[in-house]
Amino acid sequence: MMKQFPPSELLNSLPKQFFAGLVKKVGEYIAEGHDVINLGQGNPDQPTPAHIVAKLQEAAANPLNHKYSPFQGYGYLKQAAADFYLREYGVTIDPAKEVAILFGGKAGLVEIPQCLLNPGDTILVPDPGYPDYWSGVALAKAEMVTMPLREQNNFLPDFHELSPEVLSKAKLMFLNYPNNPTGATATQEFFEETVKLASENDISIVHDFAYGAIGFDGEKPLSFLQVDGAKDVGIEIYTLSKTYNMAGWRVGFAVGNESVISAIELLQDHLYVSLFGAVQEAAAEALTGPQNCVKELNELYERRRNVLIDGLRSIGWNVTAPKGSFFAWLKVPDRLSSEEFSNILLEKAHIMAAPGIGFGEFGEGYVRVGLLSSEERLVEAVRRISCLEIFKK
Ligand SMILES: Cc1ncc(COP(=O)(O)O)c(C=O)c1O
Repeated sequence: MMKQFPPSELLNSLPKQFFAGLVKKVGEYIAEGHDVINLGQGNPDQPTPAHIVAKLQEAAANPLNHKYSPFQGYGYLKQAAADFYLREYGVTIDPAKEVAILFGGKAGLVEIPQCLLNPGDTILVPDPGYPDYWSGVALAKAEMVTMPLREQNNFLPDFHELSPEVLSKAKLMFLNYPNNPTGATATQEFFEETVKLASENDISIVHDFAYGAIGFDGEKPLSFLQVDGAKDVGIEIYTLSKTYNMAGWRVGFAVGNESVISAIELLQDHLYVSLFGAVQEAAAEALTGPQNCVKELNELYERRRNVLIDGLRSIGWNVTAPKGSFFAWLKVPDRLSSEEFSNILLEKAHIMAAPGIGFGEFGEGYVRVGLLSSEERLVEAVRRISCLEIFKK
C-alpha cells in the first residue's frame, strides 16, 4: 500500500497560496471556451532581447560552462552588477564583497530572513505586499509585523505608527518601490528617513527593487543605495526578470551591506552550486550590453498604462495612475469587497484582476491589474467593464 508521508510542521506553517483558487477558476472559464483577459498575474509578456538570447546560445556551447560553476558565481557577473549600479545609479559597489548572485529575486527574498533572524525575531513587512515575503518569514519562524501602506501617504509606510517596543524588537524590514501591488514609487526623503530609522534601531533593510527599471512620466525610480548611509544598514535585491524580460531564466543579485551579502552567500553555499555558467554570461551581457531595450520596454508599459487609465477614467472609474512597476492598483466601488468585485469582473466580463485582499489586510478595497497585455486587449477590457454599467460618467 502506498504510504502517505505527512509534510513537516515547517511546511505546514507556510502561508496558503491565496490566488490558487482564482487561477483555477480562470482555467475553468478558459476551458469552457471563454476569451478571458488575464490582468491578474505578473508574468512579463515580451520576449528576452535577442542579443541576450544570442549570448546564451553561444555560451551554452562552451564546455567550460558544462562544469560546475564556482560556488558563489562568476566574478565577471559580480563585476557586471557593480558596473550596472555605477552606470545606472552612480553607486559604487565592491564586486568581491558587496554582490551575491541569486536564482532570481524571489530566492534571495525568501532566504534572507533565514540568514539574519532567529525564531521569534520580528520582521517588518509592508501591507499590502508581495506574498513571497511571508514565505521567508514562515521558514525563519519569525514574527511578522505589518506596516500599512495607505493611499493618503502615497503608499509609503508611516514609521510613526511603529511603537517603540516593535522598533526595539525589529531586526529586518522589507520595502519595495516601485511597489507591487500599488504602483507607488519612493522618494529620496522617505529613503533617508528609512536609513535613519534603521541605523537608530539596528534594523537591517532589504529593498526589493524588482521594478527598478519601470518608472513613468520621465521619473527614473530611485535605488535605495543612492541614499547616503544605505549600505551601512541594508541591501537591495535586483532581478533581471522584469528589466530584461528574463523571468524564466532565474537570475538576480543582492547588492549592499557586506555582512548581509556574506550571510546570503553562506546559506547558498549549503543549498546550491551557482547558476548555469551560460545564464551568468547572458546576464552579464544584459547588464552591460545595449540598453535601448530597457527604454523601449518602459515606453511600452507607459503607453499601456495611459490606454488603461485614460480608458477607465473615460467610463467613469476614478482611478489613480501608477508611477512605476507594471501594475495599476484600482479602487473598487465602495459597496463591494475586492473579492466580490474581482468575481464580477471574471464572471460577467471575463477579466481576471487580482483582489487586493490577497496582498494583505490593507489591500482590501482595491484590485491589481497588470499592464502585461497589448493595448488592444486593454481597450477591450475597458469596453467590457463599461458594459457592466457599474461606473457612471
Ligand atoms: C515585488 C516583487 N519582488 C520580487 C519578485 C521576484 O522576481 P524574480 O524571482 O523573478 O526575480 C517579483 C516577481 O513577481 C515581485 O513582484
